Amino acid sequence: MGKILKWVGIVIGGLVVVVLLAVVVVYTLGRAKFSQNANVGHPVTIPTSAEAVARGKYLASSVMGCDGCHGPGLQGQAFFDPAVVPNSPPFGILYAPNLTTGQSGVGSMSDAQFERAIRHGIGEDGRTLLIMPSQEYTHLTDEDFGALIAYIKTLPPSDAPTKPRALSFMAYVLAGAGQLGQLPYEQIDQNAAPVASLAASTSAEYGQYLSHIAACRDCHGVDLKGAVDPETGAPTPSLTNSGEVGGWTVDQFLTALHTGARPDGSQLSEAMPWMAYGTMTDNDLTAIYNYLHTLN
Ligand code: HEC
Ligand code: HEC
Repeated sequence: MGKILKWVGIVIGGLVVVVLLAVVVVYTLGRAKFSQNANVGHPVTIPTSAEAVARGKYLASSVMGCDGCHGPGLQGQAFFDPAVVPNSPPFGILYAPNLTTGQSGVGSMSDAQFERAIRHGIGEDGRTLLIMPSQEYTHLTDEDFGALIAYIKTLPPSDAPTKPRALSFMAYVLAGAGQLGQLPYEQIDQNAAPVASLAASTSAEYGQYLSHIAACRDCHGVDLKGAVDPETGAPTPSLTNSGEVGGWTVDQFLTALHTGARPDGSQLSEAMPWMAYGTMTDNDLTAIYNYLHTLN
């Protein structure tokens, strides 16, 4: 009897050791995923003209919605922080950083560091970013990227409180086990040469460009056929001809994005950031509409 118990003990003990080792291996894989400090990036000259700053402001506020995540004035905003955000998942601490030149901000980083963060998904200190939609921003032309940074450099410095990223053991284990999906960095073709500039028009080609940098795919799925909003978990509809939007006229589309009212009179929820997108120009929204109508 005593012998059997001893063997049972050894087997259970062995299993515990195997499980612990597996957790350590998965955790280590997760840590590695978040520090892919690769030597990536493309040099861009940042303009200073008033036109460039105005273009950058339009991109940041209307098209790309940086303030939706980085907060008003891009002063930083908590994503997970049990002390600040009720019901934070047990993932530790994550802020969309303060992008101003204030003491708690990262706004003094070099142009090359901004480029690596925004178009390549690697933060100022070499960490692999999560949630930040660099996999879409990687499509930004050099000209628009330059305008965006020209604008960010004009932001008034803010000392709004923020905290450095401190992901939990659980977050690393889940990432290592592949449960958090691919990080933006991993979704980017890091060797692709950026496009210098693209003429604005109502063409489907320009609409495709806008649909990328506006990160429609973050919520509507990579094929724009509908998915779930990663933040609220709300299901998102298809934007292609396979969905309702396929039957909308361009005027109905413009009205929906400017006012949140669908053609049937129902109201779009605020999980769809139509209030920001609605400040895009009619020409830009028409380009997006023309692009969406090429997709089946
Ligand atoms: C969907 C939310 C979201 C949007 C939209 C977004 N960001 Fe971010 N951004 C984040 C988060 C979260 C981080 C921090 C990620 C981390 O630490 O892993 C981040 C990180 C960054 C960083 C890196 C800062 C550092 O410490 O190295 C820069 C620069 C940045 N964002 C700029 C922008 C700009 C400019 C825009 C608009 C064009 C933008 N972001 C839009 C969520 C977002
Ligand atoms: C942060 C997540 C998010 C992003 C980014 C986003 N959407 Fe949405 N969108 C939603 C959600 C959620 C709904 C469903 C809203 C509802 O049912 O009230 C929606 C609904 C829509 C609808 C209504 C479609 C229908 O069949 O009723 C249109 C049109 C739309 N989005 C267009 C866009 C476009 C164009 C972009 C990019 C410029 C975009 N969305 C980016 C979350 C998002």
